[in-house]
Amino acid sequence: MSRVNAIVLAAGSGKRMGSEIPKQYLPLNGKPVMVYSLESFAKSSVDGIILVVAPGDVEFCQKEIVEKYHITKVVSIVEGGAERYDSVYRGLLTSESDIVLVHDSARAFVSQKVIEEAIEGAEHYDACVVAVPSKDTVKIATPDGFVESTPRRELVWDVQTPQAFSYSLLRGAYEKMMADSAQEGITDDAMVVERMTDVPVRLVQGDYNNIKITTPEDLVLGEKILSNNS
Ligand code: CTP
Ligand code: MG
Repeated sequence: MSRVNAIVLAAGSGKRMGSEIPKQYLPLNGKPVMVYSLESFAKSSVDGIILVVAPGDVEFCQKEIVEKYHITKVVSIVEGGAERYDSVYRGLLTSESDIVLVHDSARAFVSQKVIEEAIEGAEHYDACVVAVPSKDTVKIATPDGFVESTPRRELVWDVQTPQAFSYSLLRGAYEKMMADSAQEGITDDAMVVERMTDVPVRLVQGDYNNIKITTPEDLVLGEKILSNNS
């Protein structure tokens, strides 16, 4: 049996939410946003959770999140860095495993099915991302705001997290990116594998409810998703 860890990211400052408290701590139906994804991973077949939090928040998260909500499987709580990829890298350095999942704690509604399919995807393909077909037509723009081209919609996917990988593949890709100073424009983990390795990244069917809580409207939408789920 392979050992599977999940890196759950909660070290961002939530600028687009515009609230005083970082969005991962905001209440959603009375429970902090980040608790929902931690509970999903604790219920899944994942063996260990590495929780990455903002510098200075380790003790707070240990007491007020992990202990208060009885989150099992958390093997360590570590401080993240300035950019998302810095936070992921710190998570990767914390603990080795066979498979590693990387998840944005702001994606509070990740289902068990999606987590298990991401693990299977990594076991088969070494690298996979959860994604949904784009409902909108997408345009590629020029830097000055004109349409350059239109990709065929059936080939356009909106990617989510979790993204799941062979640990050694993702660790190697991150090491190379850091050594080569190739972090420019990196917004997800699949991009690190795309840029630094030849391994193709598989798309795994995600879920339209697996939204990322980013702006205040998403909290309202989130409450709707929760009431539909219950
Ligand atoms: N994240 C992190 N470390 C960072 C930046 C982001 O761990 N340096 C995490 C966030 O906590 C979030 C996830 O990565 O769960 C996805 O990032 P995003 O939705 O962009 O969150 P924020 O960066 O916090 O928000 P914003 O971009 O609006 O500031
Ligand atoms: Mg961000």
